[in-house]
Amino acid sequence: MARIIFFAGKGGVGKTSVAAATGIKAAEKGLRTIIMSLDVAHSLADVFDLETDLLDQNHGEPVKIRKNLWIQELDIQEEIQRYWGDIYKYISSLLNTTGLDEVLAEELAVFPGMEEVSLLLYINKYVQDKEYDVILLDCAPTGESLRFISIPTTLEWYMKKLFKVERRLAKYVFPVAKRLVDVPLPDDDYFQAIENLFERLKGVDQVLMDPEVTTVRLITNPEKVVLKETQRAFMYFCLYKMSIDAVIMNRILPEGIHDDYFKGWIEGQKKRLAQAEDFFKPIPILPVNLFRGEAVGYENLKRLADQIYGQKNPVKRFFKEKPYNLNKKNGQYHLTLKLPFVTKEDVRLNKFSDELIIRIGGYKRHILLPRQVASYDSIKAKLDDQFLNIVFKGEPNGPDKK
Ligand SMILES: Nc1ncnc2c1ncn2[C@@H]1O[C@H](COP(=O)(O)OP(=O)(O)O)[C@@H](O)[C@H]1O
Ligand SMILES: [Mg+2]
Repeated sequence: MARIIFFAGKGGVGKTSVAAATGIKAAEKGLRTIIMSLDVAHSLADVFDLETDLLDQNHGEPVKIRKNLWIQELDIQEEIQRYWGDIYKYISSLLNTTGLDEVLAEELAVFPGMEEVSLLLYINKYVQDKEYDVILLDCAPTGESLRFISIPTTLEWYMKKLFKVERRLAKYVFPVAKRLVDVPLPDDDYFQAIENLFERLKGVDQVLMDPEVTTVRLITNPEKVVLKETQRAFMYFCLYKMSIDAVIMNRILPEGIHDDYFKGWIEGQKKRLAQAEDFFKPIPILPVNLFRGEAVGYENLKRLADQIYGQKNPVKRFFKEKPYNLNKKNGQYHLTLKLPFVTKEDVRLNKFSDELIIRIGGYKRHILLPRQVASYDSIKAKLDDQFLNIVFKGEPNGPDKK
């Protein structure tokens, strides 16, 4: 199985540079490595200092830039041709009939999530075809990459709960509705296309949630606002069952700066570094200094990699701990998930038949429970030193089914 690493963090912290540096190190170890960009503001070509049209000419396909090293920046227009044909056609025709002009309708038919899903399609393909040993993902800034990781579980939910219904509607209701309303209704091609898409995505959620395969590295800087966002991202990745195996602390001012101008910066960074140690313990923090200039080009990226990893294997899992645990104790099921940085007041839990819905602030996650767990009608939750413990109690099948 390939090794997959996500590089995530706030805009400008150094995600692309660190992903590129890691790729160089992995490729030099003889591992077939691809770095993929999930950021629409692609910059992989820039950090490697490549001719930008090199990638344009490749229409979003992987480009080999060195021995064992490929980069790929997705081009959503190309992806639409490849994967989205009938779905896209239907949505844009739908938007078109609602009074939008054709160009705008086509523009809007690239709906949120399409880029992310396209990427998942590639990840799944590469994993199944065993094309690469290492897949590195240079994420979009935090907010968007969080949307990305929630997609597999959202899709699973959509598939299980909605799609079956919609399909039935299509068979019985739509033919009638078609005569009554003046909007185009999806035809079989549309449903077939969706089904194909799901088929190609099958299993990708398991791949992303398997800590043996996929881990996340959070890139951050020793600054208050950046660290805050990193903590939030941390919690969110945990909520989505993804394992974080390192925090990369970038842009630390090196020792030996005595200029008065930087005094405040140096003291501030010291304080934030100490805080970060507390926050992220026991996950290792890998420190990186601020370079004399930008970290651009192959040689600089290699230096960056040396600072981050030293002699260590860059694709090793630096920390192993499952964010989720489900087990049976004294006849009761216990679900434990690591949710650092949240307080009791932040968390809301709901259970509807076989779904557990966890809300934390604006984030929401549906967990589909195994049948034997879902059949218990009551849940009790306790937040205990970073761990949310949920116990499923009561009667299996609920009181009304006795
Ligand atoms: N440790 C560092 N020292 C000096 N410059 C850095 C360092 N890390 C990143 N940079 C520079 O900061 C800028 C932003 O980095 P980038 O990797 O593109 O961030 P992101 O992908 O998170 O937006 C780039 O110009 C990069 O060369
Ligand atoms: Mg970037």
